[in-house]
Amino acid sequence: MRLTTIAASIALAAGMSSAVTSTMAADVEVLHWWTAGGEAAALDVLKQDLETQGVGWKDMPVAGGGGEAAMTTLRARVTAGNAPTAVQMLGFDITDWANEDVLANLNDVAATENWDAVVPTALQAFSKHDGNWIAAPVNVHSTNWVWISKSALDAAGGKAPESWEELVAVLDAMKANGITPLAHGGQPWQDATIFDAVVLSMGNEFYKQSMIDLDMDALSGEEMVEVFKRMETLRSYVDDNFSGRDWNLASAMVIEGKAGMQMMGDWAKGEFLKAGQTPGEDFLCIRFPGTQGSVTFNSDQFAMFGQEGDADAQQKMAAAILSPTFQSAFNVVKGSVPARTDVSDAEFDDCGKKGMKDLAEANEAGSLFGSMAHGHAAPAAVKNAVYDVVTQHFNGGLSNEEAAEELANAVDAVL
Ligand code: BGC
Repeated sequence: MRLTTIAASIALAAGMSSAVTSTMAADVEVLHWWTAGGEAAALDVLKQDLETQGVGWKDMPVAGGGGEAAMTTLRARVTAGNAPTAVQMLGFDITDWANEDVLANLNDVAATENWDAVVPTALQAFSKHDGNWIAAPVNVHSTNWVWISKSALDAAGGKAPESWEELVAVLDAMKANGITPLAHGGQPWQDATIFDAVVLSMGNEFYKQSMIDLDMDALSGEEMVEVFKRMETLRSYVDDNFSGRDWNLASAMVIEGKAGMQMMGDWAKGEFLKAGQTPGEDFLCIRFPGTQGSVTFNSDQFAMFGQEGDADAQQKMAAAILSPTFQSAFNVVKGSVPARTDVSDAEFDDCGKKGMKDLAEANEAGSLFGSMAHGHAAPAAVKNAVYDVVTQHFNGGLSNEEAAEELANAVDAVL
């Protein structure tokens, strides 16, 4: 029996749980981790869009960047027979749930709206399972960005860094100017987000071999030792209170000029915009030095869990998510770029325009890769193994050589 059917029977047998009864047929209960200011503003765009179509919104936020906590809640809800109707998900997590045969089929709406023709193939790899559409992509984010305070950069010489050596020189100058050079939050997913970019800065081939192909020699070799050496160098530029800090609080340090830069995915732009800042004037967005021309991406998608009576609202939500006007309005606020190839960049700011151009060019050039930190390079077990080693090393628990060896061992153990 399909898990959805089991879930429905459990709910019926229990006389329906309060969470189920309070969700009317035309409502969607949405599980997500968009709780920071910029994220909530983007979520509002979706909420309002659905409300105009008569679809009510029942909010189920689970704080925690990167979505690990949200995925734990999801597992508990499904196990309890009380799955939310729509769930924000990343890459391989979608595939894992699709393998459990619990996701609603979105083929009808996909056919009506011609998703096959407009959704980039790199995204379709996760939105489709066995040829069926099982998730609606709302955006494309990328992780190899650096967000720099314009005034801090001006005080540090004014030139945005283009190579690793230039990056270190700018960080040194910011340190000499008495600010925290690198705003960072010490949480495994944030450490891993920087790691994505540092691995990519060693070359496309190396990123592919180590993060996508999970090649043991690449994971443990000299280039990986160099990656950890760079991580150790970056670690020397964070402040003493970095441990456990949320990513948006690190963004705030840059926004307020207390720190020079943050290495973070483009959801960080949502925070700068929410604070009334303008790209080029108050802050700069650059690709992590040494990764120009390449992109490590992740795409937020909404997967629907089949509950009796929810199909109509779910189909409406899926259609709304992929509509070109919504894709523009939402992504302008979120910091990401559209999950369709045919959306104009007219409404986007300079960072958004660059994001769209970079994505298209990287896709053409074969330099578009799934982000390890955000679930698009390998399944959760591998991602978590990488998180553990990267975080242990970042906190001084492993030497650079030990970390490279341990990385290969940890990945090997879960393959
Ligand atoms: C998601 C973004 C989100 C970020 C921080 C990423 O995994 O793709 O949408 O803003 O985590 O919460």
